[in-house]
Amino acid sequence: MRLRKLMALALLLACIGGKSVAQTAPYEPSAENLRSRAEFADMKFGIFLHWGIYSMFAQGEWYLQNSGTDRNEYAKAADAFYPHRFDAKKWVEAFKDAGAKYVCFTTRHHDGFSMWKTDASDYNIVDASPFHRDVVGELAAACHDADMRLHLYYSHIDWTREDYPAGRTGLRTGKKPENANWAHYYDFMNKQLTELLTRYGKIGAIWFDGFWDHDSDSIPFDWQLRPQYDMIHRLQPACLIGNNHHEAIKDGEDIQIFERDLPGENTAGFVEKAASVSRLPLETCQTMNGMWGYKVVDQNYKSVAQIVQLLINTSGKGANLLLNIGPQPNGELPATALERLKGVGKWLREYGETIYGTTAGDMMPQPWGAITRKGNVQYVHITDNALAGKPLTLTLNSKVKSVSVFGTTQKLPFKQSKDKTLTLTIPTHPETIDYIIEVRN
Ligand code: GLC
Repeated sequence: MRLRKLMALALLLACIGGKSVAQTAPYEPSAENLRSRAEFADMKFGIFLHWGIYSMFAQGEWYLQNSGTDRNEYAKAADAFYPHRFDAKKWVEAFKDAGAKYVCFTTRHHDGFSMWKTDASDYNIVDASPFHRDVVGELAAACHDADMRLHLYYSHIDWTREDYPAGRTGLRTGKKPENANWAHYYDFMNKQLTELLTRYGKIGAIWFDGFWDHDSDSIPFDWQLRPQYDMIHRLQPACLIGNNHHEAIKDGEDIQIFERDLPGENTAGFVEKAASVSRLPLETCQTMNGMWGYKVVDQNYKSVAQIVQLLINTSGKGANLLLNIGPQPNGELPATALERLKGVGKWLREYGETIYGTTAGDMMPQPWGAITRKGNVQYVHITDNALAGKPLTLTLNSKVKSVSVFGTTQKLPFKQSKDKTLTLTIPTHPETIDYIIEVRN
């Protein structure tokens, strides 16, 4: 009896001991990671690309799930995927010309099709399509040549592979739940991520998506994120990790992502605690029309003015805008998207100084516009033309020395009260996307 008690005690101590050893210390970003974060935060504008065999169905990237198609039937599209007009250089040129500083590409979306030559699965663009070209490789080369930062989107979920334990999506694609094998799937993902981080040069970030697939599980699902994040940081210490999990940031992450919303807002209904904005670099992703992947019926594109205003508002929140385009099945970017990119580029060439390298202004975005800050200058972006000729009151934190119209020598009279509230009158001006006033401290 005594012996048994002693053994139980020994076992208990061993367990406690084991636990404390296994506990990982909180993530400490390396110096190069911190530098990479700062560079990223200054970039302000990136292009998101959702491209895969789903573009052939032309109904968005969720087609496999939404249509309830059997995964083996869906996979037949791979054998017809021949995007003969794909030209990575042309894409990158268009993004550069638009003023974008980085590109985030879907290497493998929820449908499970890999857009590079992976050794971990035959279901990839080189082995399973007649195109036989490594799209990730070509895009990486074009980005590196053009000094364009490359981020890679990677889905944590897979609607095709049997080993991925399905959550609340991908239940109608014909997978057998009894074949789920998390350990096997986790190993597969880590092999793929290792390929992506060792074969294509410098990768600016890995952008995870799919965590929410298990948000309704009765027993919390363990994604084993931290060891995966550590592996990424070991392979490329400067590579940032972001996860579109719609929750507060988790240990090991370097940036915070917001889907279809400005940080702290929850108009799209994805974030439960809308206000949990961290101090990490922030990024808002948004579609140019209504869908991420190519959708033939969706011609509801945002106008150049709307995109620029979105960029102003994200910058006014201190965040980056990751603006999405769904390339066509032939490999071209939709003409409307290209036209919008041109317009945004034209605006940024003239006013980019008030966006790139800025942080949030003293006041968060308002219905009339937003404020960005660079050093001792605050750029007051007035996007509501109805304000022309009207007085404007700003609640600032800093003492103002001078106020002028951006890009001119025109000084504006102003009053600042003791509590730093600034009052001025917006000059009358012709209709414009954005009327900018420079406030100097
Ligand atoms: C969602 C969707 C996905 C898209 C992503 C982009 O989480 O599942 O299709 O890639 O948002 O933010």
